[in-house]
Amino acid sequence: MEALFPFPKPTHFSSTTNLLTPPKPTFASSTKVRMSLQENGPSVAVVGVTGAVGQEFLSVLSDRNFPYRSIKMLASKRSAGRRFTFEEKEHVIEELTPESFDGVDIALFSAGGSISREFGPIAVERGTIVVDNSSAFRMDENVPLVIPEVNPEAMDHIKLGMGKGALIANPNCSTIICLVAATPLHRRAKVLRMVVSTYQAASGAGAAAMEELELQTREVLEGRSPTCKIFNQQYAFNLFSHNASVLSNGYNEEEMKMVKETRKIWNDKDVKITATCIRVPVMRAHAESVNLQFEKPLDEDTARDILKNAPGVVVIDDRASNHFPTPLEVSNKDDVAVGRIRRDLSQDGNLGLDIFVCGDQVRKGAALNAIQIAEMLL
Ligand SMILES: NC(=O)c1ccc[n+]([C@@H]2O[C@H](COP(=O)([O-])OP(=O)(O)OC[C@H]3O[C@@H](n4cnc5c(N)ncnc54)[C@H](OP(=O)(O)O)[C@@H]3O)[C@@H](O)[C@H]2O)c1
Repeated sequence: MEALFPFPKPTHFSSTTNLLTPPKPTFASSTKVRMSLQENGPSVAVVGVTGAVGQEFLSVLSDRNFPYRSIKMLASKRSAGRRFTFEEKEHVIEELTPESFDGVDIALFSAGGSISREFGPIAVERGTIVVDNSSAFRMDENVPLVIPEVNPEAMDHIKLGMGKGALIANPNCSTIICLVAATPLHRRAKVLRMVVSTYQAASGAGAAAMEELELQTREVLEGRSPTCKIFNQQYAFNLFSHNASVLSNGYNEEEMKMVKETRKIWNDKDVKITATCIRVPVMRAHAESVNLQFEKPLDEDTARDILKNAPGVVVIDDRASNHFPTPLEVSNKDDVAVGRIRRDLSQDGNLGLDIFVCGDQVRKGAALNAIQIAEMLL
């Protein structure tokens, strides 16, 4: 696949423990043979194909040999007509219109909330199952909000071939990364309270934000003033509170997504959650410090064993060599890495744990999670 913009290409595949993940292909992506095109597969549309998540959709579809009989590449009018090669076949990007969904079984949406709000219902009306990456429908009580490792049962009633369309929402990227790690511990000891601090990468704000970070880094190193178009302040060599709008309660929207989405996914209205979300000048992959308070005691060795066996999790927790998860190490990987697993000294009786989590939010936080959902529809 040729990237449509300068975007780090996958360099290696995860040795994943994720039970939902089929074995990885052994050939390099550059010499990949087309295996996903299958007559009996669904027809697929990728909405927002030129974006950071859209490009990752293509990588993940290919890496996982997701079966499809046809694939439509959709974006805005600006991109319509551009050509590129995917799985040895030339594709032309089409402008997204209501007719785009005629005959489409599964649509993977990543073109922002307003596009999802406008075109999601149109697609569903035409019989398409939409897996949406935006926040548009996440808190709609009729729309399942799914992390396959955490709550696959929420979408049990939706299958391809059921004769009608449906919406399924992908949670926010920070929520996915946090809950892939926290849920196995929650299942054992029940989380009563969770305190999350995030260190979020540029790629979470899309392709243009990555380009701005790269440009600013060059500008600052050359002694020039940085171009601030996507963010309203210097990003290179800096960090700042997440760029989402700040609400009247003082939390920003990104933080409130973590609070509300976790309650929906865990089906627990009472769990106490607080979050502080920060943008850091990292190109790709989010990091999160997570403090957990449990109802039942859970010691750190048991927690480490639980995490080692958890789907979608890899433990990197080497105290002797001070080696713990980093955004670079998880970039382009499927698994969420967990380390710094330790008893919270401020809580008695093994009722608290601290963990540090890193995950590629374009991949597991968006494209991979959505395609795992699509796989469950087959
Ligand atoms: N980046 C992440 O890590 C991440 C994680 C989770 C969820 N998400 C969500 O995924 C969505 C996309 O994020 P992104 O980071 O991939 O953004 P992005 O890199 O800015 O890409 C946006 C995509 O939307 C398309 N688009 C914009 N206006 C359109 C229109 N009128 N009709 C059709 N397509 C249109 C763009 O096409 P053109 O190139 O033609 O403009 C582009 O393909 C957002 O809702 C975001 O919140 C992102």
